[in-house]
Order: sequence, then structure tokens, then C-alpha cells
Amino acid sequence: MSPSIIAGEKENYEDKIKKAEREGVELIHLDVMDGRFVPNSTFLADTIKKLRPVTTLPFDAHLMIEKPIDHIDEYIDARCDIITVHAEACTEKEFAVIQERCLAAGISPGIAINPKTDVPKWLYPYLPDLDIVIVMSVNPGFAGQKFIPETLPKMVAVNKELREHGFKGYIEADGGIDATTLQPVYDAGARIFVAGSAVYGNSDIHSAVIHLRHKAAVTLEKRLLEHSTKLGIRADWMKARKNILIPYASELAIEEELNAIK
Ligand code: DX5
Ligand code: ZN
Repeated sequence: MSPSIIAGEKENYEDKIKKAEREGVELIHLDVMDGRFVPNSTFLADTIKKLRPVTTLPFDAHLMIEKPIDHIDEYIDARCDIITVHAEACTEKEFAVIQERCLAAGISPGIAINPKTDVPKWLYPYLPDLDIVIVMSVNPGFAGQKFIPETLPKMVAVNKELREHGFKGYIEADGGIDATTLQPVYDAGARIFVAGSAVYGNSDIHSAVIHLRHKAAVTLEKRLLEHSTKLGIRADWMKARKNILIPYASELAIEEELNAIK
């Protein structure tokens, strides 16, 4: 879970980070917008630098800026843990430098693609050392937009293409992720979920995070069950995992099966 702090009430970033940390999220998503690459401005590296002491959680910086090559050192200096730049905003040569600088600083490099952008072929040689690919499911610029359903089959295809070319990192879903879209993007291959409005859109952040986590857990357990069935160990699997499966039994439609286990 990587909550995006630009969502919800205006600014108050420190508070939002602390609240998300209390709910046990894994990352903090920082949407950097320069008002040029996207038609909106949020904050830049100086703000990230100020926010750095607020938490020990990794900072997942998503740079929606023109010419990220000109600013990469500022984000490295601000001690981001993941730095993702847009494929539309750099050339192969620039990305090579960005990736190299991130890796040299111990930072995970990432690349983001807009809903209408394909994985650039020039990226293939860089995939084995790339940690994150953000597949945007809205046009970047604002929190609270509607998920674009066409990005789902795209994510499936992108995942396959990336794996075939040596990508070993995580696909990150970003844009309109909520309790209804999280499961489909999980199934499409995403394992990091950015949630802006779904986390900060109402005052009950606690329930929001629990709900999203529950959805992810159901999807994981469903896949593990399917896998155990394929391997011919479903009964043993369910027995060994009974206590974990109980909270998800009704959504997995396995209540009777689970009750029958001694
Ligand atoms: C879109 C940003 C997203 C967005 C997430 O430009 O990159 O991270 O703010 O917010 P929601 O989850 O509300 O779409
Ligand atoms: Zn983002």
C-alpha cells in the first residue's frame, strides 16, 4: 500500500504521513507535479526533504515533471527510496543516467507510463535493474479521477512483456485504485497499490486502509488456493491455512469446505 498524500484535504502532508504510518502501510507515495508535464503543481524536492524526518517509511516519489534528468540529483539528495520518472519525459540516454545515479545512491529506480503509452522498446536493456514500473490508470495530474478500465488488459500485456525481457521488479498501479479496482489490478499483475482518495478521501483512514488490505488479502488467498488445487494439495493447503482463511471464507466461497476440515 502506497497512499498518495496529495489526495483529500489540502496539504497537511505531515499529518497524512503519520496517519498512514499508524495504519501500517508500506510506502508513502509522493506525487511531484511541476505544472508543465501535467496541468497541476504539487510540491518539489524541497518539500520531500522537509518531510523526510517525519517517518522511517520508504518514500515512493513519482515525478510528473519535464526533464527529470535535470532534477534527479535533488530527489536523490532528498532521500527518496524509490524514484519513478515518466517514460514520456526522458530519452533513452537520459534514463540510462537516471537509473545509474539512483542505483549508485542505493535508490530503487522506476519508470511510469501513461494510459496511452506503451513500454518503450529502448527500455528493454534496463529492465533487469529496474525495480518499479508504474502503469497509470488515469491521466496524471490530479487525485480523485475515475479508473480507466482499458488499462487493465494493458497491464496484463505490459506485465508479460516486462517479464519476458528480464524485469524482476514490481508493477505499481496508480490512479483510481479503491476497493473495487484493487482486485482486478492485482489480478492483472500489480503488487504495489497507490491509493489517494480511497485512503484520504474521508476521515476514517483506519477503515479505509483495512478495507483495501482485506481486498488484497482475499485476492492473494484466492490465487494461492487456485495454485494449491492445480498442485493437487488443496485439502492439505486449506487445513494448514485454516486460521488465515477464516476471515476471507465467504468472499472465497469456501465456508462449507473450511467447516468440514477437522
Ligand atoms: C495521478 C497521481 C496519483 C493520484 C492517486 O496523477 O499520480 O498518484 O494522485 O490518487 P487517486 O487514488 O485518488 O487516483
Ligand atoms: Zn502517483
